[in-house]
Amino acid sequence: MPVTLVVGGQWGDEGKAKIIDYLARDVEFVVRFQGGANAGHTVVVGSERFAFRQVPSGILYPNVTCVLGGGMVIDPTALVEEIDAIASRGVHVKGRILISNQAHLVLPYHIALDCESEDRRGDGGIGTTRKGISPAYADKARREGIRAADLTRTPADLRQLVEAHVRENNKILKLRGAKTLSPARVADDLLSARKRLLSMVTDTRPVLWQAVDDGKQVLCEGAQGSLLDIDHGTYPFVTSSSCTAGGAAIGTGLPPAGFDAIVGIFKAYCTRVGNGPFPTEDKGAVGKRLREIGHEFGTVTGRPRRCGWFDAVAARTVVKLNGVTDVALTKLDVLDTFDAIKVCTSYRRGNDTLGVFPADARVVASVKPVYEELPGWKQATTGCQLGDLPTRAMEYIRQLEDLIGCRIHLVSLGPERSAMLHLPRVRSRAR
Ligand code: GDP
Ligand code: IMO
Ligand code: MG
Repeated sequence: MPVTLVVGGQWGDEGKAKIIDYLARDVEFVVRFQGGANAGHTVVVGSERFAFRQVPSGILYPNVTCVLGGGMVIDPTALVEEIDAIASRGVHVKGRILISNQAHLVLPYHIALDCESEDRRGDGGIGTTRKGISPAYADKARREGIRAADLTRTPADLRQLVEAHVRENNKILKLRGAKTLSPARVADDLLSARKRLLSMVTDTRPVLWQAVDDGKQVLCEGAQGSLLDIDHGTYPFVTSSSCTAGGAAIGTGLPPAGFDAIVGIFKAYCTRVGNGPFPTEDKGAVGKRLREIGHEFGTVTGRPRRCGWFDAVAARTVVKLNGVTDVALTKLDVLDTFDAIKVCTSYRRGNDTLGVFPADARVVASVKPVYEELPGWKQATTGCQLGDLPTRAMEYIRQLEDLIGCRIHLVSLGPERSAMLHLPRVRSRAR
């Protein structure tokens, strides 16, 4: 499979990085194609835990080249800090990171605007990660963004460009009663990041085309999740990029027909961080237990994640949206101690039964989940090999396959790299 795409199937934090790390053993390139430092991608290797923000999760394999694709919005200062932090832990990074010259830059005024808007809206806000994501994508759409390509300008030119942008954005910040920024200081910081990043900036598209032509393996790493997609998620409670499979073609420059496998990552239950509708959210004891056992606290912001049972309506919609060819189910071990496990099989709205995740977030907020209950397996699964996976755990997996219409071929049973099961191909019972 020369080009494999990994996408989040829920509201983010599905364990994408763990699966990327697993698949990256056999690839030459790992490419991020959207989002920015709002991502928190955790890889656990032995006693070491890495939380990647902008650097693709393949960086731990010395033979992998990591590409920050053109669909990303990159915070240059945070990127330099992240690269240094990774290198300080003994990972050889030199020459292994490429930055698309099409990627847009997140600058301090984007972060200030993001924070101002969240503060102003209070509890009614989106609950963003405050990393400047939406103002940066807004500038891109308004054709006022500064791109990685601009780092190739002369320092004097770049300073002039950035200072002009800061002055313009200061007008908006001032109007909204927020603190303004020093144009010279923002330019100074960008120029120092430029020194470190310039050699990595290139047109990454021909690099990837050549890799594909040469039969090299390319893995595309989605950030966030399909239900946070700017178009298909619970708008406006979404992020500002295309997290679904369509975004991967745009954000890498690889042609849509060139993706050979599309792996959807789903947790064995659901979580969401930030505001917005979440039909299976459990605000009681079950949610609390899932949060505690699953350590469901945001990687980026530390916020407690909202938790609830697996939502097969959302999942089957996401399978369709992305054309998911294979599912990886993560954190199954978190359910090990539950007496009974529920799965949402449809939604009720008045007298109607809905089998598709609605496109209108207000409708999503009004539905009532209909659950099917399965007996728990009450047995530890971490460390299980295929033969010793409890029968009831396997029944849960097969039931999810049936409900979402796609085969589950990877099951993750713990944060560790080694806690992974490869399921044999089974008779498709897809609806
Ligand atoms: P991502 O953003 O999708 O890459 O996911 P995060 O890294 O934000 O969150 C996933 C969390 O679950 C991390 O702390 C992982 O170490 C952890 N994790 C991943 N897979 C498993 C698993 O199968 N079981 C358990 N218990 N934890 C897991
Ligand atoms: P990974 O890649 C979970 C959520 C925020 C908020 C909304 C908009 O680790 O799965 P933004 O800062 O993007 O404007 O916030 O999206 N969000 C995430 N939730 N995982 C993420 O990334 C997220 N990135 C953004 O909490 O609700
Ligand atoms: Mg995360």
